[in-house]
This record gives sequence, structure tokens and C-alpha cells, in this order.
Amino acid sequence: MPTVALPAFAKINTVLYVLGRRADGYHELRTVFQTIGLHDTLELSLLRRGRIELECDLPALPSGRNNLIWRAVAAARRALRLQAGVHVRLEKRIPIARGLGGGSSDAAAAILGLERLAGRPLPPEERLRIAAALGSDVPFFLFGGRALGIGRGEEIYPLPDAPKRTVLLVSPSGISVSTADAYRWLRAPRLTARPAHRTLRRFCALCWSGQGSLLENDFEAPVFRRHPRLPRIKRALLRHGAAEALLAGSGSAVFGIFQSPAMARRAAFAFPDDQVFLTETVSREEYLRAVRGR
Ligand code: C5P
Repeated sequence: MPTVALPAFAKINTVLYVLGRRADGYHELRTVFQTIGLHDTLELSLLRRGRIELECDLPALPSGRNNLIWRAVAAARRALRLQAGVHVRLEKRIPIARGLGGGSSDAAAAILGLERLAGRPLPPEERLRIAAALGSDVPFFLFGGRALGIGRGEEIYPLPDAPKRTVLLVSPSGISVSTADAYRWLRAPRLTARPAHRTLRRFCALCWSGQGSLLENDFEAPVFRRHPRLPRIKRALLRHGAAEALLAGSGSAVFGIFQSPAMARRAAFAFPDDQVFLTETVSREEYLRAVRGR
């Protein structure tokens, strides 16, 4: 049976502003996503019997419709009018509940992989609609590289790539953060009829001025308050040579930007009890080449 294997890259947010809570319960975001080299791997193959099977090297992950990959395959299979069943083998490397977008990236890779396997692409609007219905971060992973996310994060505007950066990720052992909890801890005010013009203007200036190096994340204060070990990790990254450091998404991973892989490798010794990943930013071209397989 034909098989397609593709990577599902993790992301960090270099800027993450939460403007407020919307009428639908979601939060209005202004964020800059960036893909990094750390990745899961999905292997998809067609089955004669019309069912969806999911196999993962991490037994704790749900393998049925509770898994986002399962739901992504079901939606894409329906849209592609595919009779055959689908088997997905997932090699999980991106730590879970660390703000790195692993589940969302897996879902996007499942859609793109199934299109390759079926030998026909979905219309782009349909692919985006399926992705946005699966989760706020999923549409970003259809593009990769560096991109602006607005709305609940699902409205994506690709940005020019920034220069390649070395990233040291610290995934703290024993601290996981659920995204829904992190939003609750924020206690963001309800959005008023007048959107936060000042924030928006500042955000746009930040994105387009080439000041790509400024890192900011509204989740830091509330998540750091709940987990005091996280600000200590951030301070340790800075002390050990990171030019900048920030909480990844809604946490709990913290990343540092380093001038060289050698410096980042030395800094990694400061975190003997946590999982660390030495990686780098992935440009849109590199991303698309890897996930499209050409
Ligand atoms: O969209 P997704 O299912 O990934 O979101 C998970 C949870 O995070 C939502 O149920 C919601 O509580 C919260 N969320 C939010 N505002 C966003 C994105 C997510 O409140 N922009």
C-alpha cells in the first residue's frame, strides 16, 4: 500500500498579545508564529478497509476520535471523497502541553499528508476551513515559517522570514499547562466595542519594522505566577548566554535565543533535570519543502 511520511514541526510565538475575551468565549489575539526544527513524524498509509487507525510510540496518547489527528484524517478523507481507510503512525517528539503546538501541527500534517496520499490537493479554502475547525493554531501549520495570527489565532498572514536563529527549548519536567487553563488565569477583560487600537498599531509596527527580535508574551505573568520554577528557568537561560528568552505559547516550555549552537549547547548543561532541545528556526521555504516532500 502507498505510504507518505512527513514531519510535523513545533512552533514558538515571538509575540503573543491577548487583547480580550470575545462574545464567543475565545480570546482575540495578535501573535507572531515561528516554526522550529523540533518535529514529530507522521507516516500515513491507505487501508483496504474504510476505517481510521492511529498508532503512536507514546502509549498515553488517545488513539481514537479524541485525538486531533484522527479528527483531521476523518474531515480530510470526507472532503477528498476517499473510500479507502487510513493508517497513521505517529512518532511523538514534541512534548505535550508545553505551548509548542505539537497536537495542532500533527493535525495539519495529517491533512497535508492525506492530500499527498490521495494524489489530489484540496481547494485551499476548504483545507483552511477544515484546519480552523480543528483548532485555533492548526491553520498556521498549513503555511509554517513566520506568520501573523489574528482573530483567535486562526487567521494567518504569512510574514517574510527573519534571519535563522538558534533556539534552546527547556521543557520543564513535571509542569504541563492546559491552554484553556492558561486563558482562565489571564483573566482578560471582555473586548469592548472599540478594539485596542493602540495595541494593534504597536503590534503592526513591531511586525513590519524589522524589530523581529523583540519577544513578548501576555501569558508570562499569569503562568509564571502559577509555576514559579518557570521564571527561574528564564533567568537561567539569560544568565547562561541567551540574548533573549520567553515562555512558549501558553507554556510550560521556555525558550532562549542564542548567538550560536555552541553557546546554546553549553547553556543546556544548566538544566540537568529538564528535557532540553537544541533547535533552530525553520523558514517557510524549508517548511513547505519538508511537508510537501518536494
Ligand atoms: O482552538 P483550540 O481548541 O486550540 O483552543 C483550546 C482552548 O483555548 C479553547 O477551548 C479556549 O478555552 C482557549 N482559547 C481561547 N482563545 C483563543 C484560542 C484558544 O480562549 N484565541
